[in-house]
Amino acid sequence: MEFAIRPIETGDGKGINELRRMPGVFENILGIPSERSKRNEDYIVNIDGNSHQFVAVIQNSLGEEQIIGSAGVTVFANPRLRHSASIGIMVHKDYQAKGVGTGLMKAVIDIADNWLMLVRVELTVFVDNKKAIHLYEKFGFKIEGKKEKAAIRNGQYVDEFIMARIL
Ligand SMILES: CC(C)(COP(=O)(O)OP(=O)(O)OC[C@H]1O[C@@H](n2cnc3c(N)ncnc32)[C@H](O)[C@@H]1OP(=O)(O)O)[C@@H](O)C(=O)NCCC(=O)NCCS
Repeated sequence: MEFAIRPIETGDGKGINELRRMPGVFENILGIPSERSKRNEDYIVNIDGNSHQFVAVIQNSLGEEQIIGSAGVTVFANPRLRHSASIGIMVHKDYQAKGVGTGLMKAVIDIADNWLMLVRVELTVFVDNKKAIHLYEKFGFKIEGKKEKAAIRNGQYVDEFIMARIL
């Protein structure tokens, strides 16, 4: 499908909030239905030079831009961790499994590899999030370990894998 990827901008908080609260997304990203768009807008306004965040956008039927995904890489600020970073990604429920996540991952990995020359990129993912694990493995991430009962999801404590990609 056709979509564009651009850096996140101030004003994107509302679109990001819609994704972060959406069933089919929020359960797997540590989102919560009460999250307010001001919190997301404040986050965007305060993004610093260590954080490289992108959004995937389409033109909706009214000809307006709509955010359908986001991803970013954040380099750890501690000088002794400056070779490493964490990543996060989410795609609108209706646009999943159409290549948007792959496009966003390509943008994030290009920054990490070619423009920051990072050695280690890491993330955590719920152990049953097969689609995300498949996407990460496609980009060279490997499972390093498991955090038991790492997070709450729908009335249960759930395990997370730690995954990393080492260059
Ligand atoms: C995980 C996520 C970012 C992937 O984005 P996406 O746009 O759906 O990904 P793509 O369409 O580019 O690729 C999906 C891949 O998973 C595969 N896939 C789909 N369903 C799958 C499943 N149940 N098990 C394994 N692989 C699956 C697809 O075949 C595709 O692989 P391919 O490119 O080798 O054919 C998206 O589904 C999402 O936002 N999920 C909810 C939030 C989330 O889980 N974020 C990550 C938290 S760690």
